[in-house]
Amino acid sequence: MKLAILGSGKIVHDFLPVVKDIPEIEVKAIFGTVRSIGKMEILQTQFSIDQVYTDIEECLASEAFDTVYVALPNHLHFSFAKKALEHGKHVICEKPFTLQNAELLELEKLASEKNLVLIEAITNQYLPNFKSIKTALETIGQLKIIECNYSQYSSRYDAFKEGTILPAFNPKMGGGALMDINIYNIHLVVGLLGKPLKVNYYANVEREIDTSGMLVLDYGEQKVVCIGAKDSSASIRSTIQGTKGAIIINGPTNTLESFTIESLGAVQSINDNQHTHRMYEEFLVFNRVIQENDQKFVKQQLAHSKIVMEIVEAALADAKISLG
Ligand SMILES: NC(=O)c1ccc[n+]([C@@H]2O[C@H](COP(=O)([O-])OP(=O)(O)OC[C@H]3O[C@@H](n4cnc5c(N)ncnc54)[C@H](OP(=O)(O)O)[C@@H]3O)[C@@H](O)[C@H]2O)c1
Repeated sequence: MKLAILGSGKIVHDFLPVVKDIPEIEVKAIFGTVRSIGKMEILQTQFSIDQVYTDIEECLASEAFDTVYVALPNHLHFSFAKKALEHGKHVICEKPFTLQNAELLELEKLASEKNLVLIEAITNQYLPNFKSIKTALETIGQLKIIECNYSQYSSRYDAFKEGTILPAFNPKMGGGALMDINIYNIHLVVGLLGKPLKVNYYANVEREIDTSGMLVLDYGEQKVVCIGAKDSSASIRSTIQGTKGAIIINGPTNTLESFTIESLGAVQSINDNQHTHRMYEEFLVFNRVIQENDQKFVKQQLAHSKIVMEIVEAALADAKISLG
């Protein structure tokens, strides 16, 4: 895969060191704002990136890369992914895919017409521990309750309270606890159970954005609560309860660091993740999917992403929050 990265923020700094462990991925270009040119030039030197761009048309006109990784603030995912597809590039897009499901449907149509790969970068779906948790479900009897809690006090919340609204808390930029943090819980649950019958979101809303909230998903015979908070902290863990035992996931749902199975009086701790970085496995798969243009896999992952978007849309409507 020959890659162009859009953005030079936190996630890009996190991602670039991982690429050296996947030699098939060559980072050919980085695009960003004029104000970030210094930052991009440092990354260019550090990671041997051929080109730095501040003009998106100029960047996308290049034939030096076949794939674009959209790592921009949430409200820009749709427009930049669309532009990239229009220029014939495969697209890997950061979470949340888009702000509205209709936007995702439009991207899907465009990618399909052009026979391009369009896929969401969502770490937990690709981690070995996710597969192992799915397998472990067989050992805990009939599944009844899932509770995911990803609550982490954000230093940006202090600024927010004083009136400085950074992207993570800005409704116009697709911020909020649901989109930023609870989305990982939603992906985990959809990966395990699929589409829920009913969605409710009970949110703490300040300045028109959810600073924390509880998402309740009703699956009929299973009930799920996903808690995401940026205004308070708690032990970050998730529990999956069945009639014969429970699975406890230690740590956040984007890393799935390890988990414990408590069943029939026995306790078993498991960690099947191989690589220390959460993004390694997903990019390994994206590289293969793009090499093989595996449209069957793309369809399957898009079906998953669309369920997540439908949940997000229903939840935000329920809490009367509008983004974008
Ligand atoms: N997968 C994960 O684990 C994970 C973790 C964190 C974030 N994310 C996702 O990754 C995305 C980026 O998050 P982040 O934490 O990296 O954000 P960030 O640190 O705020 O970085 C955003 C980047 O986008 C650039 N940008 C902003 N407006 C732009 C524009 N109009 N044109 C071009 N570039 C623009 C910024 O440049 P300036 O600094 O010059 O404005 C900055 O380089 C978000 O969608 C987030 O949800 C994913």
